[in-house]
Amino acid sequence: PTVSPSVRAMLEEMADRVPAGRVPARIFNDREVYELEIEKVFGKAWCFLAHESEIARPGDYVTRSIANNNIIVARDEQGGIHAHLNMCRHRGNMMCKSEMGNASHFRCSYHGWIYRNSGELIGVPYFSEAYEAKLDRKEWGLVKIRIDTYGGLIFGTLDPDAESLADYLGGFQFYLDIYLKQGLGGSEVHGPPDHWVAETDWKICTENFSGDGYHTPVTHQFGFHLGYFPSSGATHSKGWAVHIPGKGHGIGLGHTPGMPPFFGYPDDLVAQMRQSLSPEQLELFSKTRTAVGSVFPNLSFLIQPLSLEPGEPGVRFCTMRLYHPIGPGRMEMWSWCLVPTEAPAEYKEAAYQAYTLAFGQAGTFEQDDFENWTKVTRMAGSTVARQVEFPYLMGLGREPLADFPGPGHAVEPYVTDDNFRNLWSTWARYMTAGE
Ligand code: FES
Ligand code: FE
Repeated sequence: PTVSPSVRAMLEEMADRVPAGRVPARIFNDREVYELEIEKVFGKAWCFLAHESEIARPGDYVTRSIANNNIIVARDEQGGIHAHLNMCRHRGNMMCKSEMGNASHFRCSYHGWIYRNSGELIGVPYFSEAYEAKLDRKEWGLVKIRIDTYGGLIFGTLDPDAESLADYLGGFQFYLDIYLKQGLGGSEVHGPPDHWVAETDWKICTENFSGDGYHTPVTHQFGFHLGYFPSSGATHSKGWAVHIPGKGHGIGLGHTPGMPPFFGYPDDLVAQMRQSLSPEQLELFSKTRTAVGSVFPNLSFLIQPLSLEPGEPGVRFCTMRLYHPIGPGRMEMWSWCLVPTEAPAEYKEAAYQAYTLAFGQAGTFEQDDFENWTKVTRMAGSTVARQVEFPYLMGLGREPLADFPGPGHAVEPYVTDDNFRNLWSTWARYMTAGE
């Protein structure tokens, strides 16, 4: 896309402005920025597609998207995972119109070409009569999307030259394990995802879930006041913020002094975590109340305790969410509940209830957040707002902790802008790469 000189200058200036604690409002709702990030960010990064447990059996598939590319993610008869553009090679019809299901083959509804779930073209109507058997079916399979996995997460990239997923995550795996290795069997989705459209720029969500503990006592104050949330405004800033410099990934680890280790998990799950996690991870995660982290560009996780009844001890729930961009200032929100595969059924149910109450589509926390995020987006699109910057000055110049048990740049306390400066510097680097 062509970019006007003013947007080009704004993006280039971010290399100096963001480390100095300033981010332009305009990036949060702008047509040019949106069109450029579809190419420069979503065309280059590793983007989340699906959790392996969503396609557990041979033939299971889901359809997902990276930017404007709809993709079939399927498990073949041998257990292998494949991702292909959901487009028939003949005249481009959408192959699979359902969001999830089980099929060994996909048959196009236009002229009837048939593909295996592993992508090979195997059926062509009138192959002998009309094509005189000359069509090379090997050449016309579905368009393959490069994938890789970590801890049950399936990522895809549209960039054939992208670094490996392991390098892309760059040590953030240490922190992802709190969500993905909650016990010996890892984690699985509990039910299908919710998804809905919101008039919100996807980046606001990525930032918030990179560790915006600052908003919680205000935006979600009902939780503190009514006793749903075992924390208090007085101690809420305590904990750690960690990011992987240059990668854009960040996590906030909220800590409540005096809270028992692994509060809100059943005992036998804690015993499993003592085996599935390293001593360094255990040291940190045992002290963590809330873990809220984002993988650049648009995948996030949250673990926190929530009481199903006000004043009762909380249960830990885990949500995974994806912010799928569908237009300037517009996104599709995807929200999953993750549970430990080997946890007792009662715990899974309780965690799912807590997730639904807080972060399902009608969840109380979800409603609180989008009320603010839609308004941020609307304001960022206004003509005067386009001239202003926001202060990202919190924690500027603070030294990283020298003895932190995990990788990356870690600071204390949890409430800080450190992770966000890294996020916007990384984003701006993607947006100006190759110019
Ligand atoms: Fe699919 Fe023609 S578009 S068979
Ligand atoms: Fe929130």
